[in-house]
Formats: sequence, structure tokens, C-alpha cells
Amino acid sequence: NGHHASSRGALIVLEGLDRSGKTLQSSRLLSYLEGERIPVELWRFPDRSTCVGQMISSYLSNKSELDDQTIHLLFSANRWEKRSLMETKLRSGTTLIVDRYSYSGVAFSSAKGLNIEWCKAPEMGLLAPDLVVYLDIPPEKAAARGGYGGERYEQLEFQRKVAQYYQILHDATWKSVDACLPIEDIEKRLRELAMDCVTTCHKGKPLSQLWL
Ligand code: TYD
Repeated sequence: NGHHASSRGALIVLEGLDRSGKTLQSSRLLSYLEGERIPVELWRFPDRSTCVGQMISSYLSNKSELDDQTIHLLFSANRWEKRSLMETKLRSGTTLIVDRYSYSGVAFSSAKGLNIEWCKAPEMGLLAPDLVVYLDIPPEKAAARGGYGGERYEQLEFQRKVAQYYQILHDATWKSVDACLPIEDIEKRLRELAMDCVTTCHKGKPLSQLWL
């Protein structure tokens, strides 16, 4: 089907504030790429299925207390424990759509007051995304969507700070999409961005590492 023998999958990350629509859009993108017969999986961080993930989950639902540095490193460890599988999948040609990644890690922890460079350090050397789609929503609008489930970070003031840190992390692999557009418009834009990215990766764009 025209795929080069060495062609690899694309690492596509969706980022955004809570209630920005990442989860809905990532599952729609998954269905679309499957329909295009592109080998693809949907991942998310935190991955609550691992031991580390369960500690994170308990923290997020206010069932346990951890200091800010500790939870930061657990979120990071939760990505590191998936790194080699991630690389294997990508190299074997599977595209990964990932709902949240290191940018969430840095934006949320920095918003609590931790030093941003300190927050980035443990993320260095994870696989760098080929595309980061930022679902851009004003914090007030995200809050107005309701459904903040009462988890630790789901508060307007905090989300405002997170939004500011996301802006600082914005780099060349980022594409912002207005998360207030109709769902179908966002979906269409995502499809275009994802297909371009998958094509570029199939053509041999090398995998690289984050923030090194
Ligand atoms: P997520 O599971 O995406 O939220 P939801 O349960 O609403 O689907 O993420 C849970 C929270 O964890 C979210 O508020 C963002 C935060 N987070 C971090 O603080 N650091 C991280 O590294 C990640 C991946 C998420």
C-alpha cells in the first residue's frame, strides 16, 4: 500500500485545559484514522492502569496527599514507564494519538509555583511529538461547559494559570485550534493536521527526543 518498509508511525499529542474537548476529539480522530486504514492507537496520560498511575489517580481524586514535587515526578515516571513501548509501536509503524503529555506535566506543575525548568528536566529524553494540537479555550469558557468533575485541578483560577504556562511552552510543533469552533470544524482541522503529520513520518522523518 505504498508504505516504505522502514516507515514509522506518528506521535500526535492533544493538549488543552480540562474540558477543552481533547478526549472527544482524540477518539474521533482515532476512528477517522482507522477508517483510513492507518495503524493507530489512542493513549492517554496519566495512564491510570499502572501502579504509578493508581497513585496519581488517588491523588487526583483527593484520596491521598503528596507534595507538588512528588506528584510531578510520578506523572513523569508514568510517561517514562511507557516510553519503550511507545518507541516500539512507533517504529513498527503504529501512529499514536496521545491525550495529554509532558506539556500537561509542565504546565500543571508550574501553575502550582514550581520552577518551570525544574519541571521540564525529568521530561527530557522522552519521545518528542511530531505534532501537538493545542485545543485553545478561554478558561472561563471551559469552566462554563460544566462537568468539572471535582478533581483536584478543576478550578477556574488554577486553570487560568495553567493556560499561561501552556503559552510559554508553545513551540514549532504546536498547532493551536480554536476549541470554541463547532465540533465538526475542529474534527476536520484535526484530520488535516494528522494526515499531514502521518505522511511526513511515513516518508522518514526521524524520531527525536523532547527538550534535549
Ligand atoms: P486527565 O486524566 O486527562 O483528566 P480527566 O480525568 O478530566 O479526563 O488528567 C487528569 C489531570 O491531571 C488533569 O487535570 C491534568 C493533570 N495532569 C498533570 O497535572 N500532569 C500531567 O503530567 C498530566 C498528564 C496530567
